[in-house]
Amino acid sequence: MITIRPERIEDYTAIHEVHVLAFGGEDEARLVESLRQSTNFVPELSLVAVKNGRVVGHILFSPVIIETQKGAISAVALAPMGVRPKFQNQGIGSELVRQGLKECQLLGHKVVVVVGHPTYYPRFGFSSASAKGLEAPFQVSDEAFMVLELIPGALDGIIGMVKYPLAFDEVV
Ligand SMILES: CC(C)(COP(=O)(O)OP(=O)(O)OC[C@H]1O[C@@H](n2cnc3c(N)ncnc32)[C@H](O)[C@@H]1OP(=O)(O)O)[C@@H](O)C(=O)NCCC(=O)NCCS
Repeated sequence: MITIRPERIEDYTAIHEVHVLAFGGEDEARLVESLRQSTNFVPELSLVAVKNGRVVGHILFSPVIIETQKGAISAVALAPMGVRPKFQNQGIGSELVRQGLKECQLLGHKVVVVVGHPTYYPRFGFSSASAKGLEAPFQVSDEAFMVLELIPGALDGIIGMVKYPLAFDEVV
């Protein structure tokens, strides 16, 4: 049984460990800590997967802006997501994404961007961000930069660049 719920203060150490083990380094764990201390942090969008009382996975969504010629449009970015290596390939990551997207929708978000594995995220409805008129503010392969419209058509007529919170500058 897996429970997905918002993070609590007592989860911080386990979340750090999840990302260090999943990514094999400190960058993503530090990114979470940096975002958590920023004004950009939305506690409801920092979710943990708990199995037998242990935090085995974590996902974070942060508000971002799409800068367009007609002004700024709000969106959220999925990053990072990690599952403890011993618990990977058991559907935990998928559950985190699905619950996270539901929460984003409940909070009224319309657009979610992600930089990630091009063979993983399409199963949740993500597709090429550039094909939807979005540009990344950093070097990233076209197929890794993806977007999901939580409201179909939310990006119709939009051409713009995604602006990430400053904390991301340290990891990209
Ligand atoms: C990516 C990750 C979060 C997925 O979590 P998970 O619990 O293993 O995912 P699920 O069990 O729901 O899904 C497993 C699927 O993810 C795929 N997957 C895992 N790592 C992948 C990778 N690096 N590239 C592409 N697909 C990957 C598996 O091949 C499997 O595909 P299948 O269902 O077609 O067999 C987890 O593998 C992880 O923590 N990886 C290291 C950190 C990372 O890369 N984070 C994501 C950054 S975009």
